[in-house]
Amino acid sequence: ASYDAGEHDSFMHKEMQEQPAAADRVLRGRLDERFGTARLGGLNMDARETRAIRRVKILGCGSAYYVGQMGAALIEELARIPADAEAASEFRYRNPIIEPDTLYVAVSQSGETLDTLLAVQEIRRKGGRVIGLVNVVGSAIARECDGGIYLHAGPEVAVASTKALTNMFIGFSLLALQLGRVRDLSIADGKRLIAGLTRLPDQIQAILDREDELAEVARTLAGAESLFFVGRVRGFPVAREGAQKFKEISYRHAEAYQTSELKHGPLALISEAVPTVALVPSDELTDRNVGALHEIAARRGPLVVITHEDVDLGDVAALRIDVPRNERELDPILLTVPLQLLAYHAALHLGHDIDKPRNLAKSVTVE
Ligand code: AGP
Repeated sequence: ASYDAGEHDSFMHKEMQEQPAAADRVLRGRLDERFGTARLGGLNMDARETRAIRRVKILGCGSAYYVGQMGAALIEELARIPADAEAASEFRYRNPIIEPDTLYVAVSQSGETLDTLLAVQEIRRKGGRVIGLVNVVGSAIARECDGGIYLHAGPEVAVASTKALTNMFIGFSLLALQLGRVRDLSIADGKRLIAGLTRLPDQIQAILDREDELAEVARTLAGAESLFFVGRVRGFPVAREGAQKFKEISYRHAEAYQTSELKHGPLALISEAVPTVALVPSDELTDRNVGALHEIAARRGPLVVITHEDVDLGDVAALRIDVPRNERELDPILLTVPLQLLAYHAALHLGHDIDKPRNLAKSVTVE
């Protein structure tokens, strides 16, 4: 059967709506509830090899890089292995040190992004071990890797990636769980995360069901020439992804910043013409985040706050969007979904081509 957008006005809309089903697919058969761990046969690593990993380096481009940053945080938190993400497009140009006890992870929807493929080849040339988190089965990156996790998001057509990114996040959660459970993550914590992962599809659906409300908020943002997206720690890669999506399809300038860094410079730009979309999850940084909102409000910056029900924003004037809470470690993906809808509805309101934004290709197969 051919793949078309059906009753949707665009593939992006269809693909956002497919996220709960796609999330189900990436989880299917991969949760070991008895031992509170993941079952990832495709990694081709036994427990001893897994335990020998001293560092994790994640490589991807664009949104895949930002989800890679979310993945690095998951691995550090759950497996306590130092982890970071880097833009694959930069990696090979800095003559990277390839270490035998580092696990390299390439992340790509298409599996054909040339910068990511060349990073994989550079690592393998130097004897490093690379696994792939890839959506397209049999793609170039999938074939070059030593093992991996297929994302099972199904075909993705819109240039702006949505369901593949969600499944990348879940793929990283599974990887972090498996790495954690051969190290110091307890069986109880493993089970807690499995329960959290199992709740994700319905929670994503609950956000999608609030599309009308998000469309209204998006229309208030669409008129701005320039916006900030801010978050910190777990929320910062979410802000980067939110800004990226907004830029891609609305053509508005959107800049992601760590909320904590605003006072070190960009606060000078805040005015009633520059809205800020702030990620304020209920976590150990909530109070500090709310403090920063006051700083923005004092400069009359319009605010959209993506947060949790139990967060008290005090008297800050803001458009507020509450997302369902999960386990803290898994919250980033639920904070990301409303940002997709904001970008989509801003672009729709502005009359842009949603699926084929100007100057962009679905996968970048040139240097
Ligand atoms: C996502 O919305 C972007 N169009 C883009 O950043 C994309 O994620 C990037 O080019 C990487 O593509 P890949 O996942 O196919 O490697």
